[in-house]
Amino acid sequence: MDFFLDSAEPEEIYKLNEFGVIDGVTTNPSLIYQSKISFRELIIKICKIVNGPVSVEVASNSHEEMIEEGLELARIANNIVVKLPITWDGIKACKTLSGKKIPVNLTLCFSSTQAILAAKAGATYVSPFIGRLDDSNLDGIQLIRDIKTIYANYGFKTRILAASIRTKNHITQSAVAGADIATIPPKLFYTLPNHHLTDKGLQIFNSDWEKSGQRIL
Ligand code: E4P
Repeated sequence: MDFFLDSAEPEEIYKLNEFGVIDGVTTNPSLIYQSKISFRELIIKICKIVNGPVSVEVASNSHEEMIEEGLELARIANNIVVKLPITWDGIKACKTLSGKKIPVNLTLCFSSTQAILAAKAGATYVSPFIGRLDDSNLDGIQLIRDIKTIYANYGFKTRILAASIRTKNHITQSAVAGADIATIPPKLFYTLPNHHLTDKGLQIFNSDWEKSGQRIL
């Protein structure tokens, strides 16, 4: 499973990238809204930090403008993935941009039919929003399972990017359901290795090693 960071904060991205397990980044207009850096500068920075795909969303709603914006975004860096909403306009723009070999992430996916359309339009990624589905008392993980089965049935190559992740359990369940990628907010990412039994075990090992008087170096 690939791990993407769901963030538009270059400092956090830089810090977390140093651990060596981040494969890409996803941004969205709400995350960019929180940034104080100008849009283009911000995207250039993020694309330089991470050696992997960086999803950046268009701002328009018509397919003509989405295509124009998508082409412009793709010129910013080699690792840009154009993020488009799953609407008819987004699907049409996806078909055009994918046809030009520009990778597209179709976002705001809340149903299997949307995911089928994403695959048929040649999207490189589809982003089911599992947390927002759970918030609406629906089953986000079940959506991942369904998309996985459908894609396998028809040999669709679009990668399933589990988005709107809120908990470690979301990551585990997405992995079990066969999502290719989980995009994770920095706050949650920092907690991933934490386990109270790891802390307790380490304390015991440290103290026993100390008592043994042995040396490695
Ligand atoms: C994915 O690409 C989105 O940026 C993100 O996961 C949305 O998450 P949210 O529902 O926590 O805003």
